Amino acid sequence: MPGDKSISHRAAMIAALADGTSRLRNFSNSADCEATLSCLTRLGVSVERDRDDLRVHGAGAEGLRVPAEPLDCSNSGTTMRLLAGILAGQNFKSTLTGDASLRSRPMARIIEPLRMMDAGISSNDGRAPLIIAGHRPLKAINYDLPIASAQVKSCLLLAGLNADGRTEIIEHEVTRDHTERMLRWFGVPLETTDVEGSRAVAIGGPARLSARDVSIPGDISSAAFFIAAAALLRGSSFEITDVGVNPTRATFLEQLRSFGFDVAVRDVREECHEAVGTVRVSGSKSSSESAAPLRGSLIPQLIDELPLLAVVGSQIEGGIEIRDAAELRAKESDRIAVTVQNLRAMGAEVEELKDGLRLTGPVRLRGATIDPRGDHRIAMAFSVAGLIAQGETEIKDAECVAVSFPEFFELLESVVER
Ligand code: S3P
Repeated sequence: MPGDKSISHRAAMIAALADGTSRLRNFSNSADCEATLSCLTRLGVSVERDRDDLRVHGAGAEGLRVPAEPLDCSNSGTTMRLLAGILAGQNFKSTLTGDASLRSRPMARIIEPLRMMDAGISSNDGRAPLIIAGHRPLKAINYDLPIASAQVKSCLLLAGLNADGRTEIIEHEVTRDHTERMLRWFGVPLETTDVEGSRAVAIGGPARLSARDVSIPGDISSAAFFIAAAALLRGSSFEITDVGVNPTRATFLEQLRSFGFDVAVRDVREECHEAVGTVRVSGSKSSSESAAPLRGSLIPQLIDELPLLAVVGSQIEGGIEIRDAAELRAKESDRIAVTVQNLRAMGAEVEELKDGLRLTGPVRLRGATIDPRGDHRIAMAFSVAGLIAQGETEIKDAECVAVSFPEFFELLESVVER
């Protein structure tokens, strides 16, 4: 699998702030990570690239340059929210913008805490473009995350690098922890405390980072489409090596197992503080009588896989219910509405809920024209639906998969037998 997108963003940004040159192997070739590299270059960081092998010449804690123009984050929420944390602690003014989808996504979630840290931020009513008047040092804060979001947590940890003292972030539902792992890998000590389902993470500022080499694991969220397709197509057998199985990201695999699919993980090892392993899946009928609803603290751990799980849920006895997932409406598209619409187009009976969906199963899907509304994960989830459906499925604007996985269709063609 191509390199993990979430980890690639963090590796590039953190290496950019380090003293010295870092080599990043298996860097994601997604358009989203391309946007991160282009913003870093505009901030004066020198990056040499040989396919998925990168050398980032770190600017050091004070070496970023005032960008001549607004920084274009394209479709990437991670680029915008994490960079905002870095830019909040610089001694200059900068602007972050993006495409129409990104400019419509909520940014108040980072603006408010960054203002508490003394950064000056103006926005278009809580949306991008964001004009950031950096402040150094920032004020260290204790912040209780009102929503479960790894992007907000990461934004504040990166701001904490340039704060005066200890910044503590408390999350009530555990989200992906790649930023914590990557900061530690680059030599920044963090304190983590778990108390009754909540997790507090603290960083002491100002902190300096030292260059490190990073080997980026394969992207489990990209692998998920292949894993689901193999699970649903009887007679399939599939093995993916060197894929990230960080526990805050791999819940999708457990979920498939709980539906009765044959999914196994082996040879797990740790690389650069991230868990990496081999995933094996065989096509089988699910044995789930009626799956428990997906809700609560499970949701942040499955956030990017939920549209795909809805497709899988249409094939299991009793169908599937997804709740507590209103955040899906604030992704690259309104993923609840778009998933419901496209499943209905394929003949599924789906109820749209404010915070999720409910669908009956199993249902024989029929081929249809799918409009993913420019959302890469919807296009890929419905390509899997197209494989199991009766008749032909056409995905409109299918090139949007390049946002996370440019070679998706090529790879899919190479493993599907007709
Ligand atoms: C991401 C966090 C999640 C996820 C997104 C990537 C990250 O977003 O949906 O695809 O890399 O931190 P939120 O933090 O907004 O939930």
